[in-house]
Amino acid sequence: MLKLSQYAELEKDIPCINKLLRQLHPEAPKVTKEIMVKMLEKSNVKIAILRDKSKNNQIFGMASLHVIRTFFGLKGIVENVIVDEEYRGKGRGKELMNGLIEAAKKKGVVYLELTSGPERQNAQKMYESLGFKKRETNVYRLELK
Ligand SMILES: CC(C)(COP(=O)(O)OP(=O)(O)OC[C@H]1O[C@@H](n2cnc3c(N)ncnc32)[C@H](O)[C@@H]1OP(=O)(O)O)[C@@H](O)C(=O)NCCC(=O)NCCS
Repeated sequence: MLKLSQYAELEKDIPCINKLLRQLHPEAPKVTKEIMVKMLEKSNVKIAILRDKSKNNQIFGMASLHVIRTFFGLKGIVENVIVDEEYRGKGRGKELMNGLIEAAKKKGVVYLELTSGPERQNAQKMYESLGFKKRETNVYRLELK
């Protein structure tokens, strides 16, 4: 997990994180150090990361867990699941997700949810192989800004 105590390394990590986010959403606005600090300060947010020891510990995969309290207990929302294209197909995505699932269990989360665009076939195979079940529902969004 990425920790705020690794603050000194954040400067080095931000470009890697932005590279990953651009692979997920090419138009994504850049994440800054301030944004990362705000996220890491929240006890309900966990960021699982994969680092390459042979490349100066650079980040090549990440996924975030956002825990919210509902009437039915703690719900975990998984966001921003991404493995750098150079590292895909070697089990790293599953490793990343398993790390996040363990973190969610430790926090007492009752269930995890995520959304995934229908074109992301590899991601859907991965989620299903991890035990996620597809639910038929509609996702609505109201843009406020
Ligand atoms: C989805 C993603 C994170 C998977 O990472 P990865 O490191 O390649 O995944 P893994 O090697 O751990 O494979 C996990 C499972 O995904 C499926 N999978 C991954 N790549 C696949 C491929 N090329 N063809 C078919 N299935 C594939 C398999 O079910 C695999 O499990 P198995 O090997 O036990 O059968 C990665 O492809 C990615 O970053 N994609 C672009 C971003 C994205 O779509 N993110 C999801 C947003 S919802």
